[in-house]
Amino acid sequence: MRAALKSIGAYVPQKVMTNKDFESMVDTTDEWISKRTGIKERRIAAEDEMTSDMGVEAAKVAIHRAGLKINDIDMIVCATISPDYLCMPSTACVIASKLGRTNVTAFDISAACTGFIYALAVAKAFIESGMKNNVLIIGAEKLSAIVDYTDRTTCVLFGDGAGAAVVSATRKKSEAITDIHVSADGNYGDLLMTPGCGVKNPCSQKVIEEKLCTMKMKGNETFKIAVRTLTSDVVNILNDNEMSAEEIKHFIPHQANYRIIKAVGDALKLTEEQVVLTVGKYGNTSSASIPMAMNEIWESGRLQYGDTMLLDAFGGGLTWGSALLPFAGEPNTVK
Ligand code: UT7
Repeated sequence: MRAALKSIGAYVPQKVMTNKDFESMVDTTDEWISKRTGIKERRIAAEDEMTSDMGVEAAKVAIHRAGLKINDIDMIVCATISPDYLCMPSTACVIASKLGRTNVTAFDISAACTGFIYALAVAKAFIESGMKNNVLIIGAEKLSAIVDYTDRTTCVLFGDGAGAAVVSATRKKSEAITDIHVSADGNYGDLLMTPGCGVKNPCSQKVIEEKLCTMKMKGNETFKIAVRTLTSDVVNILNDNEMSAEEIKHFIPHQANYRIIKAVGDALKLTEEQVVLTVGKYGNTSSASIPMAMNEIWESGRLQYGDTMLLDAFGGGLTWGSALLPFAGEPNTVK
């Protein structure tokens, strides 16, 4: 048995926050943010809108587009670094409950911005081992809840949203996920972290005052490692599968920074047409960014059955990964 990505869906919150909006909050400019990151605006979830709510909306779309009903789903995996609850229940369990699905395998993955690729790898493994048939994978983030809006080095980068996909068993080799690389190096954990509210620095007055429950990033160091690691990772996955960059129809990278995406795209000599870019509209939505970007090209009618996709991502941990796969779902005929 093989695993195929059968559908994609996404949800973006209504509220738009532009670069200009930050000019009155911190010492920054639209010009700096645009030039250094490619970000123009990002979406911000409503106060009463949880990560699980966004995940549910994306999931409903993906399940519908896969031609399935919720009871056909036998496993739910949610990748997130902004779970509804710190320890438990998992956001996947909350999503399962909100979707009305009980007695189902459900758990979260913590692999930061690489989370969606980790979830895809887990879905593939469960399906290929014969344990599951239809796995719902979700990347959902309410990063606005863990951003320090007084820190200009991070607050301008992140946004909220969710994406979901259904991965199903198939006997067709042409539909199957070709290969996935997932990796990590915990020695660089301090480059991108939320230092507080875990066991090491439990929630306290001091932790709250020092905003240790928000994201801290050594941006420039992370940037350099991201470019180096991602470039070699995408070259390796193509070489391992004896494929050339020209055979990639859609390169769908994690949307952290336009300059990282450009550097990796240039290293592979990809054309502008091959590279999917949503960072300008949504900013960095961590684990949600790849499925949100995939959904954009599906909704615009660009993503067709059989198109070869190359995914790559890099994030806190540090974690990174890439995936080579055909799109095995129905194309959007409505547009
Ligand atoms: O998604 C997970 C993985 N994350 C990433 O891959 C993100 C990787 N990092 C980046 O995307 C970039 O490093 C940033 C966009 C975060 C920063 O860009 P940079 O070109 O690496 O800038 P920098 O950190 O070297 O800072 C350059 C200057 C500094 O000022 P000084 O020291 O030169 O006076 C910063 O303080 O820019 C300053 N700066 C800002 N200025 C205006 C930092 N943030 C801002 C800001 N507005 N928002």
